[in-house]
Amino acid sequence: MNSQIYYEGKSKRIYIKNDNELIMEFKDEVTAGDGAIRASAPGKGKLCAATSVFLFKYLEEKGVKTHLLGYDGDRRLVVRRLKIIPIEVIVRNYAYGSLLKRMPMYKQLQPLDPPLIEFHYKDDALHDPLILVDDILRTNIVTREQLDLIVDMTMKVNSELSKLFSSKKLTLVDAKFEFGFYNGEIYLADEISGDTIRVIDDQSRHLDKEVFRRSKSVDELLKAYSELALRLGILG
Ligand SMILES: Nc1ncnc2c1ncn2[C@@H]1O[C@H](COP(=O)(O)OP(=O)(O)OP(=O)(O)O)[C@@H](O)[C@H]1O
Ligand SMILES: [Mg+2]
Repeated sequence: MNSQIYYEGKSKRIYIKNDNELIMEFKDEVTAGDGAIRASAPGKGKLCAATSVFLFKYLEEKGVKTHLLGYDGDRRLVVRRLKIIPIEVIVRNYAYGSLLKRMPMYKQLQPLDPPLIEFHYKDDALHDPLILVDDILRTNIVTREQLDLIVDMTMKVNSELSKLFSSKKLTLVDAKFEFGFYNGEIYLADEISGDTIRVIDDQSRHLDKEVFRRSKSVDELLKAYSELALRLGILG
């Protein structure tokens, strides 16, 4: 493909298709610890792309606006070109990961009902720090109304995905979402894959990047991501 690279991140390359559309190409690479550990992972790009496409389509059917426009069946998605809102929204159904580090009073996998929402400022150099609602509003990242909509969308996406996963005997532990503007409207962006959600099966086995964080094994990671795709009925 000879279009111009618009952005190269840790897990995806973004190309400009035209004024309104981008190509999002998932890399066959895995990184952990803020990019400190990196490994080649052949097949990971397709697994994450296919999982994202499946989940974005599912959410669209449930009435969620997503950036997805098309899929090449391999590692590339066509998406709406958004103005990304520089916050990561994390929704937690069970306590895990960084939440346990910043707040040790939670027990691992303790249910969080209603789900706990966190906002992080997207800034790699600062390691995407946790920020307050007040920080978002005072710096005009978005308005109060827009933030309310982002929270509503996050809760809706979380409840639809939780229901879907539970019908496959899987549990959505937590998830990270990004949003962006297109024509004044807010869309769900980026990806939904084992890289951005934590999912466990009925034996508490992870089908997400936690596998790689622990084992540092690309094979184990690919097995977990394939299993997730299989359980969702994505790949035969
Ligand atoms: N529809 C979209 N329009 C514009 N940008 C998008 C869209 N969806 C995702 N992005 C952005 O594309 C990039 C995807 O690349 P990748 O996920 O590899 O980045 P990253 O290394 O995680 O870094 P970042 O901190 O920027 O997310 C992200 O910066 C993400 O915010
Ligand atoms: Mg990213």
